[in-house]
Amino acid sequence: MTADFDQVDFFSDESLNEDPYPYFEHLRSKCSVTPLPHHGVVAVSGYEEAGEVYRDVETFSSCNSVVGPFAMFPVPLEGDDVSEIIERYRHQLPMNEHMVTMDPPEHTRERALLMRLLTPKRLKQNEEFMWRLADRQLGEFLADGRCEFISAYSQPFAMLVVADLLGVPESEHERFREGFGLSPSPGGLGDEEGPGLNALGWLDDCFATYIEDRRREPRADVLTDLAQAKYPDGSTPEITAVVRTATFLFAAGQETTARLLAAAMKHLAEYPELQDELREHRERIPDFIEEALRIESPVKADFRLARRATTVGGVDIAPGTPVMLLNGAANRDPRRFECPAEFRLDRANAKEHIAFGRGHHSCPGGPLARAEGRISVERILHRTRDIRLSEEHHGPRGARRFEYEPTWVLRGLRRVHIEFTPADD
Ligand code: HEM
Repeated sequence: MTADFDQVDFFSDESLNEDPYPYFEHLRSKCSVTPLPHHGVVAVSGYEEAGEVYRDVETFSSCNSVVGPFAMFPVPLEGDDVSEIIERYRHQLPMNEHMVTMDPPEHTRERALLMRLLTPKRLKQNEEFMWRLADRQLGEFLADGRCEFISAYSQPFAMLVVADLLGVPESEHERFREGFGLSPSPGGLGDEEGPGLNALGWLDDCFATYIEDRRREPRADVLTDLAQAKYPDGSTPEITAVVRTATFLFAAGQETTARLLAAAMKHLAEYPELQDELREHRERIPDFIEEALRIESPVKADFRLARRATTVGGVDIAPGTPVMLLNGAANRDPRRFECPAEFRLDRANAKEHIAFGRGHHSCPGGPLARAEGRISVERILHRTRDIRLSEEHHGPRGARRFEYEPTWVLRGLRRVHIEFTPADD
């Protein structure tokens, strides 16, 4: 097996989907910074080294952060410093209009616009909505005693939290569920395919209408705040800039959080004693969420492009090299986390994980995702007893079967079928 790992193509080999961790360990056992045989990628599986790359915005560009080695430039990335080539062609790269692929100073400007929306007041109101939403969502399938958790709960929940954050009125939430193809299916058993195919295009149109409307006729609502937000220098962003900030929040915040909730549920359902412990000690739920983020980091691979020659972890990196940051591998680096493959509720340093990245681009939605996890787990445990994995779908204990999304970007379960006893409130 180990020999095969030397030839494995991380970007196309589906055998890594179900359990990428032995491969990650193999990479780290060779070196925490390892050149791969495909696409000229250097993979970073070490915790310290990943943090070093994330923080160094001078040497590493984010222009390829989402598509990695598939960021195609029309000319070879040659020379001692490829910055000039990056600047000349970055607008041709996929996702170039979103802040996650920008570098300073553009990134600083776009990020400041976003941070003006994530005010403490807005986050507090959003959290109040999460409590109501959790109960509303659970109410759709609780009496059935079973559900496919991702389609019945975590996807609509994560989407509607972002909708509320942006001030989409609750009267429009059903329309959003339809737009994303997330309307309830009978019994919440999740046999339909995921979000609507062109959900982001649909969202662009929705938000363009909202913003134009609020600029024309301001009201006392969050969409008006969004429409009137200004850049730090006082200038007013184009409508398209506001719209892409809004729609990107759905892209960045929805599937990631849905997969965190799914991984958390899979773990809870496997360990009844953990359910009892967390029911009795609700204050331990945040620790549970941190450990879930560490052990099953939803963003599997994040990328940077080396502008110039540098060294990370003692390994030389040439200008133009796509550097792959493996968050899930770094979060299981034994030099940082003792017995990293064990889920430990009392792990003292779990919160040091880098599931949300580090540095300039570190996830601004981290507090939101954490609150979503905490509130969901709290309400689910309160309103159920004896959550268990469906043997019909996942096989018996000791021989469970799970399918993961076939992607190298996310670590995501496809389905988590659970059964439970509704609790008397
Ligand atoms: C468990 C859930 C989540 C995980 C694991 C996660 C992970 C990440 C990571 C690793 C990055 C850094 C990307 C990079 O450095 O290239 C990031 C960026 C980002 N995330 Fe999240 N995220 C989550 C939830 C959310 C939520 C709920 C939102 C907002 C609603 C959000 C919005 C963003 C945005 C806007 C960025 C880009 C920031 C920038 O480029 O400055 N994320 N996320």
